[in-house]
Amino acid sequence: MSKPPQKRLYIKTYGCQMNVYDSERMADVLRPLGYALTEAPDDADLVVLNTCHIREKAAEKVYSELGRIKRIKEIRAEAGQETQIAVAGCVAQAEGEEIMRRAPVVDLVIGPQSYHRLPELIARTSRQLGERLAADFDPEDKFDRLPEERAVQGYSAFLTVQEGCDKFCTFCVVPYTRGAEFSRSPETVEAEARRLAEKGVREVTLLGQNVNAYEGGLAALVRRLARIEGLDRIRYTTSHPRDMDEDLIAAHGELEALMPYLHLPVQAGSDKVLKAMNRGHSAEHYLRLVERIRAARPDIALSGDFIVGFPGESDADFENTLEVVREARYASAFSFKYSRRPGTPAASMPGQVPEELKAERLQRLQALLEEQRRAFNAAMAGRIVQVLFERAGRNPGQVAGRSPYLQAVHAEAPQHLIGRIVPVRIASAGSNSLAGAVELEAA
Ligand code: SAH
Ligand code: SF4
Ligand code: F3S
Repeated sequence: MSKPPQKRLYIKTYGCQMNVYDSERMADVLRPLGYALTEAPDDADLVVLNTCHIREKAAEKVYSELGRIKRIKEIRAEAGQETQIAVAGCVAQAEGEEIMRRAPVVDLVIGPQSYHRLPELIARTSRQLGERLAADFDPEDKFDRLPEERAVQGYSAFLTVQEGCDKFCTFCVVPYTRGAEFSRSPETVEAEARRLAEKGVREVTLLGQNVNAYEGGLAALVRRLARIEGLDRIRYTTSHPRDMDEDLIAAHGELEALMPYLHLPVQAGSDKVLKAMNRGHSAEHYLRLVERIRAARPDIALSGDFIVGFPGESDADFENTLEVVREARYASAFSFKYSRRPGTPAASMPGQVPEELKAERLQRLQALLEEQRRAFNAAMAGRIVQVLFERAGRNPGQVAGRSPYLQAVHAEAPQHLIGRIVPVRIASAGSNSLAGAVELEAA
């Protein structure tokens, strides 16, 4: 078989880590067809926008980016070069028809469960055979048909183990864009993790929209992966409070490879709001859960997501959220103004909160979260932490990596330590990163 001609592929990724994983896998599917990744859309034969639908702003970004890409396509066409444009991800799944109507420049719309079909669909569109919208809903098929081979860059990798969501929080589009909960088999996950470890990956982050709802138990999966030689660090995200079982909590106290970091969104602190959100847990349940997790792993870095200004949220409800934050103590967190998503139950609920009030609440919440983040980081000063060095740092003579708590760490250290886990004495702590020097005696 002759080698296919070299073509250039540009992928722009929006949204969550699962989209990052998916973008890598799309590149893997296309590599055998001769597509190599490029950093800029200007010289790309194929442009893929891997989109996010979670908030209105995220979804609208796609259309403005398509405007830019359209001009690039025109310029390239004048030079006799063809450019194909594909929209993938959650916007593709949610509003595929609308994309094709609003942006005729798009050649192909492909939802998250159809990525294994990319080669076939690209061939079709370039031969004008029709079928420009693929939005199937069978993740099993996808995972079976994606290539085993993964191009890995660096020492930390994402690995999707679970996809989709059956929770139907009333604000959220994910159950509609990613479909029902589906778990990959432990065997295929382990095989993929082993291949990553063989390529030098030291850390995997297991991904799922509800990763701790993993069928058969996430703790059992983590225990299995913890035995893989060379795989020293395991993380997972995102977890739902309802699925945080005893076994997983215990694993945090037992497994050295399981990093002391937990992303456990609560969204809001008022039981009235939590009920309207259909979260299926109370604020008290969440706080007691955090207590149990800290009993197993006292130093765990807690992270979360928050929505302010959900329909019907009163000042008192919002105060409850601040209360929960004060009690739970976060190392980091993401917080958002409620965004009305078409087709979700909350979009038509009474008591929509005015934008200015949302903005004011967000500011107050973020100030508190920022204070907690600084305090968490500041407590590291003077301590020695194990850092997985992943790349050269900002300044010469520096390398950068992550602490077990997922903090960015910059250290004075020789470049040959990249790819190793090394003790670093923390000298100073900022809000976004830590700085220190390699503790040579211990290294
Ligand atoms: N599966 C994850 C969430 C994935 S979406 C979980 O259950 O925690 C990531 C975050 O986006 C959510 O946790 C939520 O805080 C936020 N989000 C989702 N829908 C939103 C909306 N309509 N408006 C504002 N933020 C939203
Ligand atoms: Fe969305 Fe809720 Fe599912 Fe998370 S659990 S993906 S917030 S519906
Ligand atoms: Fe966005 Fe889809 Fe992820 S909506 S947050 S890209 S699951």
